[in-house]
Amino acid sequence: MEKLVITGGTALHGTIPISGAKNAALPLMCTCLLTDEPVTLNNLPRLADIATLSDLLNHLGASVTIAAGSRGTQRGRKLTFHAAEIHDTVAPYDMVRKMRASILVLGGLVAREGVATVSLPGGCAIGNRPIDLHLKALEALGAKIELEHGYVRASAPDGLKGGTVRFPFVSVGATENILMAATLAKGTTTIENAAREPEIADLAKCLNSMGAKITGAGHETITVEGVEKLHGTVHDVMPDRIEAGSYAIAALMTRGNILLEGANAHDMQASLDALQEAGGIVEVEENGVRVRSNGHVGGLNIVTQPFPGFPTDMQAQFMALASVAEGASVITEAIFENRFMHVPELGRMGADITVNGSSATVRGTAKLVGAEVMATDLRASMSLVLAGLVAEGETTVNRLYHLDRGYERLEEKLRQVGAVVERVPS
Ligand code: UD1
Repeated sequence: MEKLVITGGTALHGTIPISGAKNAALPLMCTCLLTDEPVTLNNLPRLADIATLSDLLNHLGASVTIAAGSRGTQRGRKLTFHAAEIHDTVAPYDMVRKMRASILVLGGLVAREGVATVSLPGGCAIGNRPIDLHLKALEALGAKIELEHGYVRASAPDGLKGGTVRFPFVSVGATENILMAATLAKGTTTIENAAREPEIADLAKCLNSMGAKITGAGHETITVEGVEKLHGTVHDVMPDRIEAGSYAIAALMTRGNILLEGANAHDMQASLDALQEAGGIVEVEENGVRVRSNGHVGGLNIVTQPFPGFPTDMQAQFMALASVAEGASVITEAIFENRFMHVPELGRMGADITVNGSSATVRGTAKLVGAEVMATDLRASMSLVLAGLVAEGETTVNRLYHLDRGYERLEEKLRQVGAVVERVPS
């Protein structure tokens, strides 16, 4: 196992290229299950989660090939996923347990093959995270759902039928699953209270380029007119708004100036608003978004919400920022019930944070001190890296595999803007 050793105290200056978005890439990869033609994705980040899903798609019958020349490049890879035939309709426990997003194969498989059996993803570090909304939505399209031996079996031997799906609350994954399933259903599907995240719009754009008839993606109501068949496509994965937001915080915390090359300001507006509230200066440039410090970090008030609200995936990183602010902040987590695991670890570095239910009060402190820390999820790990960048002395972040799930070439990108960071074996 590897760990990251960070020596804090350097202001970060320069340009960081933003990778393709992990959370867009995962559902996009699953679109290959809906067609017997190849789906090629440009700008796929090199991340552990992408490799995990590639293995699962391969197990189900898709060939996965890396385009010549894209293997060793600094930019994301170009991969082609081709499921000419589905060999297996079972997504086994051993593969699904590694990554909850594996549930995204369910909609495509049942739409194309009339049956799919997927292991239940199980518990997760950031809360209970059930999949009931995914299953109820598929039922609304006529699938029969059975749960047995830790697996969910969805079947629709005569094909899925268009219907109305009304989500009681917003779920990104359930919206994506049903969107994919509805493309091949007979008739029209209406999805109400759909997630509006930019990753949903990117998925719909890709599906439409495959011949799907989707309108309204990015809004509360999405309409899908089912088609008989989808064909192959070539699609560019959108930039990662969470990666960009994380490096934006690094610029502000270290009193630096970073151009987030390729970032899309519109997709990350809530994070940029919060940065400005804390005193950051944000400038939209032709080839990205520049974030710099005015020399001060102020306190902020944040409540996580579905898009276009403040993203839960940025909560931990903003808590690291708040812990060095000149003032107090209140951060409320309203999406997941157990997403404050970074609090005790930040506390070990000198942060002053009190949690009361789903809210954390953070009293800014003049300095954090380096420590040996570890986190139990991806974004929490990034909050510790950010704290390490400004802490006095050395910070060691253990369990690096969490970061490798979601931040492409993390230490390389940080070094590029002047950080003192090293990956070493444990
Ligand atoms: C996706 C993102 C994740 C992000 C989250 C919220 C991917 C691969 N992951 O996760 O990074 O943190 O959106 O923006 O894109 N829920 C249910 N029943 C369900 C489904 C969800 O109760 O069937 C609950 C969840 O426990 C959670 C809330 O709904 O409390 C939102 O979860 P959801 O939007 O589904 O998150 P994911 O799609 O898993």
